[in-house]
Amino acid sequence: MCSIIGYTGKLFVAPILLQSLKRMEYRGYDSVGIATMNNGKIVTRKGIGKVAEVAESLDLLHMPGRIGIGHTRWATHGGVTDKNAHPHSGCTDDIAVVHNGIIENYSALKAELIRLGHNFKSQTDSEVIAHLLELNYSTYKDIKQAMIETCKKLSGTYAFVAVFEDGNISAARYDEPLIIGIVDSGCFISSDVLGFLEYTDKAIFLDNKDIIITNGTTLELFDFDGNYVTRPITQVAWELGAADKGKYAHHTLKEIHEQIRTIVEAGNQNNERLHSFCDILANAKNVFITGSGTSYHSALIAKHIFSRFAKIRCETIMSSEFQYMLDSVDDKSLLIAISQSGETADVLQAVKIARQMGSKIISVVNIPTSSLARISDSFLSVNCGPEIGVAATKSFTGQLSVLYNIIDSMCNGCVGISSDKSEIIKAIQQVLDDEINISKIADTMEDVKDIYILGRSLHYPISLEGALKIKELAYIHAEGIAAGEIKHGPLALIEKNTPVIVINPSDSTYNSTISSAYEIKARGATVVGVSDKMDDVYDHFIKITKVRDNLYPLVEVIPLQILAYYLALKKKADPDYPRNLAKSVTVK
Ligand code: F6R
Repeated sequence: MCSIIGYTGKLFVAPILLQSLKRMEYRGYDSVGIATMNNGKIVTRKGIGKVAEVAESLDLLHMPGRIGIGHTRWATHGGVTDKNAHPHSGCTDDIAVVHNGIIENYSALKAELIRLGHNFKSQTDSEVIAHLLELNYSTYKDIKQAMIETCKKLSGTYAFVAVFEDGNISAARYDEPLIIGIVDSGCFISSDVLGFLEYTDKAIFLDNKDIIITNGTTLELFDFDGNYVTRPITQVAWELGAADKGKYAHHTLKEIHEQIRTIVEAGNQNNERLHSFCDILANAKNVFITGSGTSYHSALIAKHIFSRFAKIRCETIMSSEFQYMLDSVDDKSLLIAISQSGETADVLQAVKIARQMGSKIISVVNIPTSSLARISDSFLSVNCGPEIGVAATKSFTGQLSVLYNIIDSMCNGCVGISSDKSEIIKAIQQVLDDEINISKIADTMEDVKDIYILGRSLHYPISLEGALKIKELAYIHAEGIAAGEIKHGPLALIEKNTPVIVINPSDSTYNSTISSAYEIKARGATVVGVSDKMDDVYDHFIKITKVRDNLYPLVEVIPLQILAYYLALKKKADPDYPRNLAKSVTVK
């Protein structure tokens, strides 16, 4: 989603804001803007494009001042235009505002403000915040009161930062993340720790309904009722180096390659934490697992392995559907939420509803300081470091690794992943070494309109995940299909040369899936096999190494990620920044 950043301190603000926005650009990226305050005047420059492009065309780097705010936008209300880019001001340039979230009552507020004589310049919901703040500031002549009155009028979700002509910066948070980074005589306000981690690891995570005002020297923190509050300073522990591309052309490729390490690191859980997590799980009456997108695919794998090894029956519900499926959620239920970011609005909403119904919440999350981690009764961290590529890759296999480790801990090591990862590491290395072969298979698919992926049992969620990667990275229609279902309808889609990827390692699903492969081949499909066992049915073959049956998902998803990456390159799409997508979907 959008990223917001504010800085006030000793340093020139424009280079700092630009650097922070670049670090957070993965969250959303159709337009960029900065407002700086210098000699009592606020100057705003903004436009569509990526940070580097807009910075160059508008010379953002040389904007003067030591106080300012910045924004990268992921459009929700209003198209991708220069005018809709943030920061927004009211009728004058006395205040500039950047916002992340959605103001649900913006049209009523806008109508009222227009009636009072305000002129709007954009189609965004965010601009109402600037006008409201302007109105309230001119009424109360006090930033604190103006912020409180403004927040009281807004409904929806928001984190916004405003810079005032007198040099103060103020920010408010409601259901969108907002974090303060403390530096010597100054501070950052950001939607992501990556916005300031280069300068400080001291962070204050604002609670919902917190407002801050800072002039760089003092910092006031209060709630929407005006009561002063204190929040602890947390030390955040991520190495920034992990956010660089290293020797790779893209973050996505780097993150695919990192999996050889991150799958192992995901298994390094604190024992006490792991046992407390497993105790809650073992004692739950009804278990639900939720997540969105890729994290939902992890939930589907969890459902299989929890049932297979720990005899725990669970229901998986996509987070966006959770609110419609509440009939059996109660105070004896447990909701397991899986999320890379821990900030996905649909996931947080599911958790909120489950909590209201009395359920316990445990989560598997990559960002230990995220909203999800903080509202869970217990959480396990995926430990894969920042994932910058918009498409989830290492966080997916990291989530699976955590889930396998949970089961191992509950069934005395029956999966065997916690005691011996060497087999998996070898198998992943073999797939990574096969990158050129996979890229050549991508060459053969450049012009196709549809790709189907078949898999049975544990391989079915991987077929869904592979299809999601191809859709989002290469903009090709792709569908994961349970192999046994092909004859119940999808077979009608198969024509001469339709590419079908068949995930078929030599486990208990092998014989049935190879039959499905022959059925589609007989209808003219071009069959791509992903297996440890070669067969004549395959027109192209991606070899994977044999591993213990239940661990195949950790390995077989990687060639699909690589394939999607190379398809994106073929299509001249930027794999790190797929069109229309954002890394953390913090709006519903
Ligand atoms: C797909 C992808 C998305 C996310 C989804 C949930 O590659 O990245 O589908 O998986 O938006 O995000 P998290 O896991 O952060 O809750």
